[in-house]
Amino acid sequence: MDAFYDLIQKLFTFGFKTFYYGIKNLPYKSLSFWFLFVAGLVVMNYFVETETHLHLWQRYGPAFLKVETLLKIVGTNITVHKMFCFTLFIGLQLFIYGFPEYCKVNKFQNLFNRLGLTNGIKSKPKITEVSDEDFNRTKVVVANGGIGIKLFQNRQDDLEAAFGQKIESISHDSNPGFTKIILSKYHWPKVVKFSSLSSFDLPKDHFILGQSSNGIVTQNINELPHMLIAGTTGSGKSILFKEILVSLLKSSPYLQLYLIDLKGGVEVQDFKDYPNATIVKDMKMAVFTLQLLKDEMDRRFAYLEKNGHREIQPLRDKMDKIVIAIDEASTLFMKNFANQEASGLSARAKELTDSLAKLARAAGIHLILATQKVTKETIDTHIQENISGKFCFKTNTLQGSVTVLGSGIAYSLPDIPGRGIWSLGNKLIEIQAPLITSAEIKDFGKQLIDEFKNGERKMLQPKIILNQSQNENHILPEGDVCIKDAKKLF
Ligand SMILES: Nc1ncnc2c1ncn2[C@@H]1O[C@H](COP(=O)(O)OP(=O)(O)OP(=O)(O)O)[C@@H](O)[C@H]1O
Ligand SMILES: [Mg+2]
Repeated sequence: MDAFYDLIQKLFTFGFKTFYYGIKNLPYKSLSFWFLFVAGLVVMNYFVETETHLHLWQRYGPAFLKVETLLKIVGTNITVHKMFCFTLFIGLQLFIYGFPEYCKVNKFQNLFNRLGLTNGIKSKPKITEVSDEDFNRTKVVVANGGIGIKLFQNRQDDLEAAFGQKIESISHDSNPGFTKIILSKYHWPKVVKFSSLSSFDLPKDHFILGQSSNGIVTQNINELPHMLIAGTTGSGKSILFKEILVSLLKSSPYLQLYLIDLKGGVEVQDFKDYPNATIVKDMKMAVFTLQLLKDEMDRRFAYLEKNGHREIQPLRDKMDKIVIAIDEASTLFMKNFANQEASGLSARAKELTDSLAKLARAAGIHLILATQKVTKETIDTHIQENISGKFCFKTNTLQGSVTVLGSGIAYSLPDIPGRGIWSLGNKLIEIQAPLITSAEIKDFGKQLIDEFKNGERKMLQPKIILNQSQNENHILPEGDVCIKDAKKLF
């Protein structure tokens, strides 16, 4: 009798779990699934109406349950028959979509049990989910039964041996009672050093985004034309921001950089000696610079129209490509500044960036914005719409990832600095961004100075505005006078 109850309990657990996984895995978003599903229901309805279901039962049903007996049990009410058939059909769907995960969970549970991990009351952690995150990665969620994450991390080697796959990360799920283990077929490097890519042959006007499972990913700035870098704090935005600028400078000979960083310029300080870079650290100078760049864009459009050209070509038109890179962009666009003047400046910065994002492509002017927060209050929807390239590191919320990429994928990324998703058009690629150091940026600066000195590199036009510390030519008055000029604009 015990064996019978045991069997019933096992069957019940099997049915419950398979249906649970089925409900979870049904392809709700797929139109073709819903089309087939509705078609299936229509066919079932037709079967019942024409009594085909009874004929089929007579032919293929089990011998011990004849149609006559079946009819005695369920009766002859057609609605009841339809309900049975529909339930059977839906149950079959749930089984089809749930059974594979049920098998995987069981398989992983058996492998996991080999480790002998138990809690204080000798119960084993239970695997609750095994799902494919993408082509390369599998997510295993474990109800840890009170076993802390440290213990899982200490047993990483054993876990890898048991699962036969590399572990990319072990972290808490949103509920600390669950531990999330990410397994990867592709062995992601934890760090890709910028120096290790020095021999990489970068095509003209391209910059490096990092390493994907298919190799190094680069992007042509002309095809971009603007880019947003988003992600939670400490995820690697500023490092990527700087790496992009350095790798772009390596492949693009005629380039001017305008670097706006309102966190006191700390992040872009390493570029201060670059002859073709201008660093802007405060709000007024930022708005002033954006205004000058907008004027430059208008001038370039007038030039293109007059000369019948479609876009600026640096050598032909004697104009440099311009990259306006703004770290902590949300600080520049924040509305709720304490005083009215700052709010006004911020609104103006938004307007100027909006017109640059909309039009600057043909003028050879590109925007790179890095920001932690992406909402319509921080980065205007107009600006977002005009930015086609988006690199999103891990986000704190599902909504954050959806806002940037239109997909929750960046929320489920492992907690690894530099790991992010690159989205351009409808492509989404997982990438480990290169880690560039301050020393490497400064060293490249020295190389640039030499190149400018010995004529290997030159600017095709004067800078739009100089660094506050670069006024050695006295083309511009001291920094504070620039700010006074800025005031005249408002
Ligand atoms: N590509 C990378 N590879 C390895 N480690 C990285 C990478 N990028 C960043 N890190 C590590 O993460 C730290 C934080 O990076 P970074 O300053 O770029 O973050 P952030 O996203 O700009 O943060 P915040 O929003 O606070 O400005 C770096 O100091 C470095 O140690
Ligand atoms: Mg930063």
